[in-house]
Amino acid sequence: RRIGAIIAAAGSGSRMGGDKPKQFLNVDGIPVIAKTYRAFADCDMIDVIYVVTGEDMMQQCKNHMVPYLDTKQLKKFGGIVSGGNERQDSVYNALIAVKEQGGVDYVLIHDAARPFVTGKIIETTVKAAESRDAAIVCVRPKDTIRTVDETLDRRSLMIVQTPQGFRFDLLMNAYEKAYADGYYGTDDASLVERIGVHPALVEGSYANIKLTTREDLPSVTRIGKGFDV
Ligand code: CTP
Ligand code: MG
Repeated sequence: RRIGAIIAAAGSGSRMGGDKPKQFLNVDGIPVIAKTYRAFADCDMIDVIYVVTGEDMMQQCKNHMVPYLDTKQLKKFGGIVSGGNERQDSVYNALIAVKEQGGVDYVLIHDAARPFVTGKIIETTVKAAESRDAAIVCVRPKDTIRTVDETLDRRSLMIVQTPQGFRFDLLMNAYEKAYADGYYGTDDASLVERIGVHPALVEGSYANIKLTTREDLPSVTRIGKGFDV
Protein backbone atom coordinates (compact mmCIF):
# COMPACT_ATOMS: atom_id res chain seq x y z
CA ARG A 1 0.00 0.00 0.00
CA ARG A 2 1.27 3.41 -0.94
CA ILE A 3 0.94 6.13 1.70
CA GLY A 4 1.25 9.82 0.86
CA ALA A 5 1.39 12.96 2.96
CA ILE A 6 0.27 16.45 2.01
CA ILE A 7 1.73 19.33 4.00
CA ALA A 8 -0.39 22.49 3.80
CA ALA A 9 1.94 25.48 3.72
CA ALA A 10 0.10 28.01 1.58
CA GLY A 11 -1.19 30.28 4.34
CA SER A 12 -0.02 33.83 4.89
CA GLY A 13 0.10 33.64 8.69
CA SER A 14 -1.97 36.78 9.18
CA ARG A 15 -2.64 36.09 12.87
CA MET A 16 1.08 35.56 13.54
CA GLY A 17 2.11 38.71 11.71
CA GLY A 18 5.77 39.43 11.07
CA ASP A 19 7.62 39.81 7.82
CA LYS A 20 7.31 36.25 6.55
CA PRO A 21 4.72 33.49 6.84
CA LYS A 22 5.12 31.37 9.98
CA GLN A 23 6.06 28.21 8.05
CA PHE A 24 9.36 29.95 7.22
CA LEU A 25 10.27 31.00 10.79
CA ASN A 26 13.00 29.00 12.52
CA VAL A 27 12.33 26.44 15.23
CA ASP A 28 15.16 24.41 16.72
CA GLY A 29 17.48 26.07 14.25
CA ILE A 30 15.64 25.07 11.07
CA PRO A 31 12.61 26.49 9.25
CA VAL A 32 9.22 25.21 10.42
CA ILE A 33 8.45 23.74 6.99
CA ALA A 34 11.72 21.76 6.98
CA LYS A 35 11.11 20.42 10.49
CA THR A 36 7.57 19.37 9.59
CA TYR A 37 8.73 17.71 6.36
CA ARG A 38 11.46 15.81 8.24
CA ALA A 39 8.96 14.31 10.68
CA PHE A 40 7.09 12.68 7.76
CA ALA A 41 10.17 11.79 5.73
CA ASP A 42 11.73 10.03 8.72
CA CYS A 43 8.66 7.85 9.15
CA ASP A 44 9.08 4.50 7.35
CA MET A 45 5.36 4.21 6.67
CA ILE A 46 5.31 7.35 4.50
CA ASP A 47 6.25 6.85 0.84
CA VAL A 48 5.79 10.28 -0.73
CA ILE A 49 5.33 13.84 0.53
CA TYR A 50 3.75 16.76 -1.32
CA VAL A 51 4.02 20.33 -0.10
CA VAL A 52 1.38 22.93 -1.02
CA THR A 53 2.41 26.55 -0.87
CA GLY A 54 1.34 29.92 -2.26
CA GLU A 55 1.90 30.53 -5.93
CA ASP A 56 4.09 33.50 -4.93
CA MET A 57 6.01 31.45 -2.33
CA MET A 58 7.13 28.44 -4.36
CA GLN A 59 10.81 29.46 -4.44
CA GLN A 60 10.78 30.73 -0.84
CA CYS A 61 9.33 27.41 0.24
CA LYS A 62 11.99 25.37 -1.55
CA ASN A 63 14.73 27.61 -0.13
CA HIS A 64 13.45 27.03 3.41
CA MET A 65 13.18 23.28 2.96
CA VAL A 66 15.49 21.58 0.49
CA PRO A 67 18.86 22.69 2.01
CA TYR A 68 17.78 21.23 5.36
CA LEU A 69 16.99 17.75 4.07
CA ASP A 70 19.30 14.81 3.52
CA THR A 71 19.24 12.53 0.49
CA LYS A 72 16.98 9.96 2.12
CA GLN A 73 14.46 12.64 3.16
CA LEU A 74 14.55 14.29 -0.28
CA LYS A 75 13.88 10.97 -2.00
CA LYS A 76 10.32 11.10 -0.67
CA PHE A 77 9.65 14.57 -2.09
CA GLY A 78 6.70 14.31 -4.50
CA GLY A 79 6.78 17.97 -5.43
CA ILE A 80 5.49 21.44 -4.66
CA VAL A 81 1.89 22.26 -5.53
CA SER A 82 0.40 25.73 -5.86
CA GLY A 83 -2.21 26.43 -3.15
CA GLY A 84 -5.47 28.35 -3.07
CA ASN A 85 -7.30 31.03 -1.10
CA GLU A 86 -8.52 28.78 1.71
CA ARG A 87 -6.79 25.81 3.31
CA GLN A 88 -9.43 23.60 1.73
CA ASP A 89 -8.54 24.91 -1.75
CA SER A 90 -4.86 24.26 -1.09
CA VAL A 91 -5.47 20.67 0.00
CA TYR A 92 -7.76 20.06 -2.97
CA ASN A 93 -5.10 21.30 -5.40
CA ALA A 94 -2.68 18.87 -3.81
CA LEU A 95 -5.13 15.96 -3.98
CA ILE A 96 -5.58 16.63 -7.70
CA ALA A 97 -1.79 16.72 -8.19
CA VAL A 98 -1.38 13.45 -6.29
CA LYS A 99 -4.05 11.82 -8.42
CA GLU A 100 -2.46 13.07 -11.64
CA GLN A 101 0.81 11.49 -10.56
CA GLY A 102 -0.75 8.07 -10.13
CA GLY A 103 -2.38 8.48 -6.72
CA VAL A 104 -1.79 6.80 -3.38
CA ASP A 105 -3.90 4.39 -1.34
CA TYR A 106 -3.96 6.47 1.83
CA VAL A 107 -3.13 10.10 2.42
CA LEU A 108 -2.30 12.11 5.54
CA ILE A 109 -3.07 15.82 5.52
CA HIS A 110 -0.97 17.93 7.89
CA ASP A 111 -0.53 21.61 8.74
CA ALA A 112 2.96 22.88 8.00
CA ALA A 113 2.50 25.02 11.12
CA ARG A 114 2.62 21.92 13.40
CA PRO A 115 6.33 21.10 13.40
CA PHE A 116 6.23 19.11 16.65
CA VAL A 117 4.29 16.17 15.22
CA THR A 118 6.04 12.92 16.13
CA GLY A 119 6.74 9.72 14.22
CA LYS A 120 4.54 7.89 16.70
CA ILE A 121 1.55 10.15 16.00
CA ILE A 122 2.07 9.76 12.24
CA GLU A 123 2.28 5.95 12.47
CA THR A 124 -0.77 5.67 14.69
CA THR A 125 -2.74 7.84 12.27
CA VAL A 126 -1.72 5.73 9.26
CA LYS A 127 -2.71 2.49 11.03
CA ALA A 128 -6.06 3.90 12.14
CA ALA A 129 -6.78 5.26 8.65
CA GLU A 130 -5.99 1.85 7.15
CA SER A 131 -8.41 0.08 9.45
CA ARG A 132 -11.15 2.72 9.65
CA ASP A 133 -10.83 4.71 6.35
CA ALA A 134 -10.54 7.98 8.25
CA ALA A 135 -8.60 8.97 11.37
CA ILE A 136 -7.94 12.28 13.08
CA VAL A 137 -5.56 13.32 15.81
CA CYS A 138 -7.18 14.95 18.86
CA VAL A 139 -6.49 15.95 22.45
CA ARG A 140 -8.90 16.64 25.28
CA PRO A 141 -9.42 20.32 26.16
CA LYS A 142 -7.80 21.43 29.38
CA ASP A 143 -10.14 24.38 29.81
CA THR A 144 -13.87 24.43 30.24
CA ILE A 145 -15.44 25.32 26.92
CA ARG A 146 -18.79 27.03 26.48
CA THR A 147 -20.86 28.57 23.76
CA VAL A 148 -21.94 32.13 24.48
CA ASP A 149 -25.11 30.69 26.04
CA GLU A 150 -24.08 27.55 27.89
CA THR A 151 -21.26 25.48 29.30
CA LEU A 152 -20.52 22.32 27.32
CA ASP A 153 -19.75 18.92 28.82
CA ARG A 154 -15.98 18.75 28.64
CA ARG A 155 -15.97 14.92 28.58
CA SER A 156 -17.49 14.95 25.11
CA LEU A 157 -15.20 17.62 23.66
CA MET A 158 -12.01 17.18 21.67
CA ILE A 159 -9.50 19.63 20.26
CA VAL A 160 -8.72 18.61 16.71
CA GLN A 161 -5.15 18.57 15.45
CA THR A 162 -3.45 17.22 12.37
CA PRO A 163 -2.42 14.88 10.81
CA GLN A 164 -5.72 13.56 9.55
CA GLY A 165 -5.49 10.37 7.50
CA PHE A 166 -7.89 8.97 4.89
CA ARG A 167 -8.34 6.35 2.24
CA PHE A 168 -7.46 8.47 -0.78
CA ASP A 169 -10.60 7.77 -2.82
CA LEU A 170 -12.82 8.55 0.13
CA LEU A 171 -11.18 11.93 0.73
CA MET A 172 -11.35 12.79 -2.96
CA ASN A 173 -15.08 11.98 -3.01
CA ALA A 174 -15.61 14.09 0.10
CA TYR A 175 -13.84 17.04 -1.50
CA GLU A 176 -15.82 16.74 -4.73
CA LYS A 177 -19.05 16.66 -2.76
CA ALA A 178 -18.02 19.68 -0.67
CA TYR A 179 -17.29 21.73 -3.79
CA ALA A 180 -20.50 20.58 -5.47
CA ASP A 181 -22.39 21.87 -2.39
CA GLY A 182 -20.32 25.02 -1.91
CA TYR A 183 -19.32 23.76 1.54
CA TYR A 184 -16.18 25.03 3.26
CA GLY A 185 -14.83 23.36 6.39
CA THR A 186 -11.86 24.18 8.61
CA ASP A 187 -10.50 20.64 8.50
CA ASP A 188 -10.62 17.54 6.31
CA ALA A 189 -12.60 15.34 8.66
CA SER A 190 -15.60 17.66 8.47
CA LEU A 191 -15.79 17.03 4.72
CA VAL A 192 -15.63 13.26 5.13
CA GLU A 193 -18.30 13.35 7.83
CA ARG A 194 -20.64 15.02 5.37
CA ILE A 195 -20.54 11.82 3.31
CA GLY A 196 -21.31 9.65 6.31
CA VAL A 197 -17.91 8.45 7.50
CA HIS A 198 -16.97 8.97 11.13
CA PRO A 199 -13.24 9.19 11.68
CA ALA A 200 -11.36 7.19 14.29
CA LEU A 201 -9.94 9.44 17.01
CA VAL A 202 -6.22 9.08 17.55
CA GLU A 203 -4.57 10.52 20.64
CA GLY A 204 -2.39 13.48 19.75
CA SER A 205 -0.14 15.49 22.01
CA TYR A 206 -0.35 18.86 23.75
CA ALA A 207 3.06 19.52 22.24
CA ASN A 208 1.67 19.14 18.71
CA ILE A 209 0.64 22.80 18.69
CA LYS A 210 -0.25 24.82 15.62
CA LEU A 211 1.83 27.97 15.55
CA THR A 212 -0.91 30.55 15.18
CA THR A 213 -0.27 33.76 17.13
CA ARG A 214 2.78 35.42 18.68
CA GLU A 215 1.84 33.88 22.04
CA ASP A 216 2.61 30.45 20.59
CA LEU A 217 6.26 31.29 20.04
CA PRO A 218 7.36 31.04 23.69
CA SER A 219 5.87 27.52 23.78
CA VAL A 220 8.33 26.63 21.08
CA THR A 221 11.10 27.32 23.56
CA ARG A 222 9.56 24.90 26.03
CA ILE A 223 8.55 22.18 23.59
CA GLY A 224 11.45 22.31 21.20
CA LYS A 225 14.82 23.92 21.61
CA GLY A 226 13.74 27.44 20.76
CA PHE A 227 12.58 29.81 18.12
CA ASP A 228 14.28 32.57 16.30
CA VAL A 229 12.34 35.12 14.33
N1 CTP B 1 -2.95 26.91 4.69
C1 CTP B 1 -2.86 26.57 3.34
N2 CTP B 1 -3.57 27.30 2.42
C2 CTP B 1 -4.33 28.34 2.79
C3 CTP B 1 -4.46 28.68 4.16
C4 CTP B 1 -3.75 27.92 5.10
O1 CTP B 1 -2.15 25.63 2.99
N3 CTP B 1 -4.98 29.04 1.85
C5 CTP B 1 -2.14 26.15 5.67
C6 CTP B 1 -1.23 27.05 6.51
O2 CTP B 1 -0.02 27.32 5.82
C7 CTP B 1 -1.07 26.27 7.79
C8 CTP B 1 -2.33 25.40 7.87
O3 CTP B 1 -2.98 25.50 6.59
O4 CTP B 1 0.07 25.43 7.79
C9 CTP B 1 -3.26 25.85 8.98
O5 CTP B 1 -3.77 27.14 8.69
P1 CTP B 1 -3.62 28.42 9.61
O6 CTP B 1 -3.06 28.08 10.93
O7 CTP B 1 -4.90 29.18 9.54
O8 CTP B 1 -2.46 29.25 8.84
P2 CTP B 1 -2.58 30.62 8.04
O9 CTP B 1 -3.81 30.61 7.20
O10 CTP B 1 -1.26 30.84 7.38
O11 CTP B 1 -2.71 31.67 9.24
P3 CTP B 1 -3.83 32.81 9.39
O12 CTP B 1 -5.17 32.12 9.34
O13 CTP B 1 -3.52 33.43 10.71
O14 CTP B 1 -3.62 33.76 8.24
MG1 MG C 1 -5.75 30.47 8.11
